[in-house]
Amino acid sequence: MPDNSVSFDEYDEIHSPRHGQTDLDRVIEAAIDRRGFVGGALTFGLGGFLLGTTSLTTRAEAAADRFGFRQIPAGTEDTIRVPDGYRWETLISWGDPLWSDSPNFDESTRGTAASQQRAFGDNNDGMAIFQAGGRTVFAVNNEYTNRGIIWGNRPEGKPANDDDILKGLLAHGVSVFEIARDGDGWSVVKDSPLNRRITPDTEMEITGPAAGSDLLRTAADPTGARSRGTWNNCGNGQTPWGTYLTCEENFNGYFSSSDPDYERSPSMRRYGINLDDWGYGWAGVQERFDISRHPNEPNRAGYVVEIDPLDPNSTPKKRTALGRFKHENADVVLADDGRVVVYMGDDERGEFLYRFVTENRYTEGGDNSDILDSGTLYVARFSDDQTGTWMAMTPETTGMDADEIAVNTRMAGSLLGATTMDRPEWVASNPFQAEAYVALTNNKNRGLKPNAGGDATPVGGPNPREANVYGQILRWRPDGGDHAADTFVWDLFALAGNPTVHSDENAGSANVNAGNMFNSPDGMMFDQRGFLWIQTDGNYSNEGDFEGHGNNQMLVGDTATGEIRRFLVGPDEAEITGLAWSPDRKTMFVGVQHPGERGDSHFPGGGDSVPRSAIVAVSREDGGLMG
Ligand code: FEO
Ligand code: CA
Ligand code: CA
Ligand code: CA
Repeated sequence: MPDNSVSFDEYDEIHSPRHGQTDLDRVIEAAIDRRGFVGGALTFGLGGFLLGTTSLTTRAEAAADRFGFRQIPAGTEDTIRVPDGYRWETLISWGDPLWSDSPNFDESTRGTAASQQRAFGDNNDGMAIFQAGGRTVFAVNNEYTNRGIIWGNRPEGKPANDDDILKGLLAHGVSVFEIARDGDGWSVVKDSPLNRRITPDTEMEITGPAAGSDLLRTAADPTGARSRGTWNNCGNGQTPWGTYLTCEENFNGYFSSSDPDYERSPSMRRYGINLDDWGYGWAGVQERFDISRHPNEPNRAGYVVEIDPLDPNSTPKKRTALGRFKHENADVVLADDGRVVVYMGDDERGEFLYRFVTENRYTEGGDNSDILDSGTLYVARFSDDQTGTWMAMTPETTGMDADEIAVNTRMAGSLLGATTMDRPEWVASNPFQAEAYVALTNNKNRGLKPNAGGDATPVGGPNPREANVYGQILRWRPDGGDHAADTFVWDLFALAGNPTVHSDENAGSANVNAGNMFNSPDGMMFDQRGFLWIQTDGNYSNEGDFEGHGNNQMLVGDTATGEIRRFLVGPDEAEITGLAWSPDRKTMFVGVQHPGERGDSHFPGGGDSVPRSAIVAVSREDGGLMG
């Protein structure tokens, strides 16, 4: 039996699902009806596209054992909590050295630029595990730093010198390191030949339609085909050919202007590049971050970067064909004909959801190394009748040159009338059927303010609540079951909320209740049983609208029945983000980001220790499968 928690029949059903009709199946039937029913009677109350309550409870009870655990309550303790029968331990924390010649994390100084260069970065986010030649290799994003933590040894949490600023800079990027089984757990293999730090200083190539463009020519690289470094690496993707995709999200917050009267371009304004940075101070140590001197530098960031984690000498490639925006993650699936499809969200209020379809087909064992350089980028438009369209972003459809589309992708999306979304975070595709899910985390501006490009943000469609504080999970199924199809139907898998505080639409959908409620869904990934794991990055005040939600958490959803159950609660002031499984599926690695971001946590060390972002390893006490 594959897993002690489920019967073989149940396991088989999960692996070869003969799904009962889901709400989305009913949407599809209705959509088919509506196509012969223009102007039809479909009215758009919330109930029109949410999971119905009919038989949900019965089906959830029937499925109860498939999850293999009892739901845990919300919590506000400064630790990790998991259900009975499960345990967790810390694999690696910010500042842990990847090489034995580098010092252990120093609680009093919190490290130096030199130690950070050879240690695990800060604020780990998306991550993936690779295997080759008997080795197990982890690639992990290190998204950003919190001033009050990384410079918490300095007055007011401000850098005291250039080395402090460089330490912060080098805490960004990607950490690649080997792990190995150690007794019944996992540990980091220091000094592995595969260990590598990729930072904002690592040389990179720019590939795809914007390579060599005037928009990318800078003093540092007059050819427009090279870039230096990656930062604010948020979610991730993993390709079938064994590479890691790291997604550059809030790249804008690192640029500033030495000229207080500098006139920013429309592109800078759309992407939030301002005269001041967000406190990182990078322009003080590297002039390239000064936009008044180097106005094209911001155009070299905001991409999906492809990394070969098994070749420490490889040059990371910024794939401009996948567009430039605040990339959350990059979910990779194959179309029926073998072309590669990448789903991507742009995490900003009122920005868009994207899809890239390669020109060429993936060939197993063949050379797929530059397959992400040619293809078509699409942006989504959602209709209120629960259908939608992927609109191709080409010179013909937009009137923009191919390099402009790749660099100023948001403007191309606006030209096409794409649907403004409630902050698209991770996309997760279901391995058992052609459908995908995106977390729309929240959007306080919904219905109240346009996006930065002036596009309206009307209440409706997949963004149904004004000033949306809780977020929702949207799913779509491509027509014909093919991810390359240009049309789809959609519904909402869950509308987060608080049914103990609200009785209107802010109570949430029928599958959200007092026992499992949460806000701000963000990280999402399917496991190999077909369950959808949901991580949150939300309001952890546990007060007002959020009373009873507790700390950020991880839940798991059964997408056939709609049931959602809380599996893990994080420590104080942390986000739960990033998910990967060991090759034997017996360990689930979970990211804990910025515990104590407001100064009130000592996770994971306890006592008076400095709070540190970390990856924890969660397993079953009986050694069973974790998904
Ligand atoms: Fe880095 Fe949108 O989260
Ligand atoms: Ca996120
Ligand atoms: Ca978030
Ligand atoms: Ca975060």
